[in-house]
Amino acid sequence: MLTPTKDRLRIDAREKVLGRPIFAADVPLPGLLHAMTTPARIARGRITAIDTAAAVAVPGVVRVFTHEDFSGIRVTPATLGGNQPGFQPMTGPDVVFRGQPVALVVAETLEAASEAARLVDVTYDAASFTATMDDPGAEPQPFETTIEAGDAAAAFATSEMTVEAEYRLAQNHHNPIEMISTTAHFEDGRLVVREGTQNSNSMRAATAGALGLDPGAVDVLSPYCGGGFGQKNVLQLQSVLVSRAAMMLGRPVKLVMPRAQLFHTASHRPASRHHIRLGASRDGRIAAVLYDTEQENARYDHFFRTGYHEATSRHYGIPAYRGRERLVRIDTSPPGHMRAPHEHPGSFALECAVDELAGGLGMDPVALRLANDAARDPVTGKPFSSRTLGQCLSRGAKLFGWDDRSAEPGSMVAGDGSLIGWGVAAGIYKGSMFPCVARLRVQANGVTRLSLSGHEMGQGFRSVAGAELMELLSIDADRLEIRCGDTSAVQQHHTAGSWGAAGAASAIRAVAEKFIAALTDLGGALSPGESVHQRLMALKRPVLEVEVEHLGTSQGPEALETLRRGGVAVVGPEYPDFVSFSWIAHFVEVRVEPSTRRIRVPRVVSVADCGRVMNRRTATSQVQGGVVWGIGAALREAAEIDPATGFVLNADLADYVVPVNADIGDITVELLDVPDPMLNASGVRGVGEVAMVGAAAAVANAVHHATGRRVRHLPIRIEDLL
Ligand code: MOS
Repeated sequence: MLTPTKDRLRIDAREKVLGRPIFAADVPLPGLLHAMTTPARIARGRITAIDTAAAVAVPGVVRVFTHEDFSGIRVTPATLGGNQPGFQPMTGPDVVFRGQPVALVVAETLEAASEAARLVDVTYDAASFTATMDDPGAEPQPFETTIEAGDAAAAFATSEMTVEAEYRLAQNHHNPIEMISTTAHFEDGRLVVREGTQNSNSMRAATAGALGLDPGAVDVLSPYCGGGFGQKNVLQLQSVLVSRAAMMLGRPVKLVMPRAQLFHTASHRPASRHHIRLGASRDGRIAAVLYDTEQENARYDHFFRTGYHEATSRHYGIPAYRGRERLVRIDTSPPGHMRAPHEHPGSFALECAVDELAGGLGMDPVALRLANDAARDPVTGKPFSSRTLGQCLSRGAKLFGWDDRSAEPGSMVAGDGSLIGWGVAAGIYKGSMFPCVARLRVQANGVTRLSLSGHEMGQGFRSVAGAELMELLSIDADRLEIRCGDTSAVQQHHTAGSWGAAGAASAIRAVAEKFIAALTDLGGALSPGESVHQRLMALKRPVLEVEVEHLGTSQGPEALETLRRGGVAVVGPEYPDFVSFSWIAHFVEVRVEPSTRRIRVPRVVSVADCGRVMNRRTATSQVQGGVVWGIGAALREAAEIDPATGFVLNADLADYVVPVNADIGDITVELLDVPDPMLNASGVRGVGEVAMVGAAAAVANAVHHATGRRVRHLPIRIEDLL
């Protein structure tokens, strides 16, 4: 049966509704052992002794591993293209953050492993430590200028109107539906690792390197990943430990990390500080931005240079921009990427500062933004592949009813006495490309298998890939299997940076064209209404298979080589002849209850442009999800870190507060759906991350409009408004 594709339901909805075991830890394996880690109870120091006697005595315990068992693990910090924690726990006696695994118990049951992990008795020689970037022991690295256009200092010094402010964001933690886990199985010299990862290819290389295996003898399977917003980019800290244990024991081993440990060992959004100076003329033209970012980092982390200014320097046509950044080293677990890792914090700072400028000038915040739109990229002078920020702002203003806004803060009051605030902010996110391999195998009997580079992380990767294929080829939709996130299928890539869909769309187009050419070579073109299966049947060909290795725009074959080595081969947002970004404008209404100052967000309007929309349903969901997370970041989420112990005090979903359904009002999403043929033949750019960029700033700007309070840190809580 052939079905219309554009707004198709999720093609994996049925598997999910039926509760099929789709996540890595759900796959039943014969002889499976269960593992549990023992977390360090100090934040820095050395292990002097480990007594495992009581743990070993628990019935069902198979083995208790300590750092002495794992000293053969090689630490290969560069293997994930630098995008990897530089510290591998349990390879020595050093403790470098609170909660670091110091023992791994493997047992016949989860209960035995958990009980025994508690009984591992570790003696430490504790050292002093620094738990947050505000503590005196924090070690700032030197500032580095990462974007410089024009002479921002001179332009700022002569500006008629200036804003200077510091904005701060708290440490945030992913809390994926799929828990952090690793299941490893070593048999006949082959290691198979099942783990929810966005980067199965690099993970294979890193795991092989760490364990001294040939990468060809390792497969990483992540066919579904239950939430992949950057936390699953890296080789997770438990991963090679579990693989090593499976190799040593000759049985499959599974570790599912308890949520409280996830807060201490899994990658998270680091806290950051943003110092902005912004200069403008009296008519609202922004002339200069001097913007310094500081981000906390682990003492031993190889977190590569950050990237805060790539986006903020392109929000507007700011002729003079100097962006500097530095890392501040503390004793924490390695931070990492979390949805729009630089663009969300950066847009909070910039878009609040722009709002402060509008207030100072007495200008409407939408009009000010439109007056500063850019015709060309102010950093490189190149054209944008597409620039629709002005359209997003204008359309959003109309949908929201912005013209009815009364400018004075606190001047809009609801019937129940609540203060009404209307805020706006814009967001942009790079349009990147990546090599993508697609192998298409179509059978005369109706079965089609598409093997694809890319990971299904819940965003609907299979749905957009399937819809794209079905637009190009008349295949049986119900018998289409899409294999992705699986190193045994085709060469995988790192699915992040909102580049998965654009790369897949381009590769699918190429493989479909190649397939049609191959079919034509075999025996004439398709007749109208004829499916490719029928054609194969008529040709007496049971199966036809073709493969393409599609490069990202402007990439050469060396990108594929990088990929084969397990590296990261990304290109963009700067290309030889243009720069490319996705765009969004958020309009937010808040209501602040007059006595308790409780903040509600009854409605949001977001207008986004991600090029051609491949699947309206999944793209709309992504934008809504980004807005929800923006509201969470703005009003709820913060790790509460105890400076005396380095412990995250709210390490569970009861105390690490995220928005629930009752916190979310109406979120209206409109997608401009303007194809971007300059970026790729499919006209597609990413939407997953731009969705969140600017959302928190729009909330903060709305809170200011409601109350007159300019809160320059996130999250904004009731106590900030008392
Ligand atoms: Mo994303 S933070 O690029 O996985």
